[in-house]
Amino acid sequence: MEISRRNFLISLSSAALLSRAGQTAQTLPRKAPLLMGPPLESLCFGACNREHKPQPCWRPIQKLKPQLFMWLGDTIYADTQDMSEMLSKYRQQQSNLDYKKMREQVPIIGTWDDHDYGENNAGAEYPMKKQSRELFLDFIDEPKKTKRRAANGIYTSYTFGPVGQRAKIILFDLRYNRSLKSDPDRDLLGEEQWQWFEEELASSDADFHLLSSSTSVLSSSVLFTEDWDKFPKSYERLFELLDRYNPPGTLFLAGDKHFGCFSSRPAGKNSKRYYEMMSSGLTHTVPGFYKPVVRKYYGAHKSFTDINFGHIRFDWKRQQIICDIRNRLGKVALRRIYEKDPKTGLLNEIGF
Ligand SMILES: [Fe+2]
Repeated sequence: MEISRRNFLISLSSAALLSRAGQTAQTLPRKAPLLMGPPLESLCFGACNREHKPQPCWRPIQKLKPQLFMWLGDTIYADTQDMSEMLSKYRQQQSNLDYKKMREQVPIIGTWDDHDYGENNAGAEYPMKKQSRELFLDFIDEPKKTKRRAANGIYTSYTFGPVGQRAKIILFDLRYNRSLKSDPDRDLLGEEQWQWFEEELASSDADFHLLSSSTSVLSSSVLFTEDWDKFPKSYERLFELLDRYNPPGTLFLAGDKHFGCFSSRPAGKNSKRYYEMMSSGLTHTVPGFYKPVVRKYYGAHKSFTDINFGHIRFDWKRQQIICDIRNRLGKVALRRIYEKDPKTGLLNEIGF
């Protein structure tokens, strides 16, 4: 059952979780009621997780008691068109004892990247995408018969907190509709998802927006990476929409590259400065010989090349987001603090 907009507004005074164009309280994954009540104060996220490898991050994540954990891709390395093989890998992941314990206490949301979608660097052409979508959504406990299960892709949004303390998470799907490499106007999202995204921005009254995608929007590209700017039309359209709707407190989150990184660059027609936090490598990161290259290219004080997860806290009084990339022990490896400019709504980096 969906909650009507009127009921949403009525419930605002008591329930701090709502969504209009995105997920409703009834359609949130299992354990979601834990999110009801206070505004979003803390969440963890991570990406790139080999289901058969040691997974040291679940315990420190559980210790931090985040209000949710968000997958940003490569929850497993399925890389197959055989759905029974994919399912057995998801089952292996769910039987990991530390993940299981974390899952019992922390609501889990997320999106996928290529390896859990089904194939390295795959897009719309992957033949098993409908079946794979079902397996992924089952894995993150998406209830049956939601709008998300019927959509062309697994994109969705969640909105938390009362007016004035409202945070919105937008989760893109960069795989289901991604055009072929041979297409000169390569698109990342597909028209349906673009329309949805525009509506999400147009209807949002959130104070902070976490735009979350598996691959990076702002970090520097190298030859073999799959960042948004490798899709110039989509990159342009993204910032055109951000220019048009100006969502306050916009921070990009990403996974994918097998290291953690803070990035920033001006974008859009007025060259507004945007920020991104990337965390990738829950079980594995870039190989040893590549670590010094990453640190040199992405900045020694901006990148972290060992196993890591992201931890985000909101300081609602100060209108700040405290972003930590934490190591396998849960210790802070890198920190950035962003504060929202009350006039422009843009974030400024104020500390690290
Ligand atoms: Fe990966």
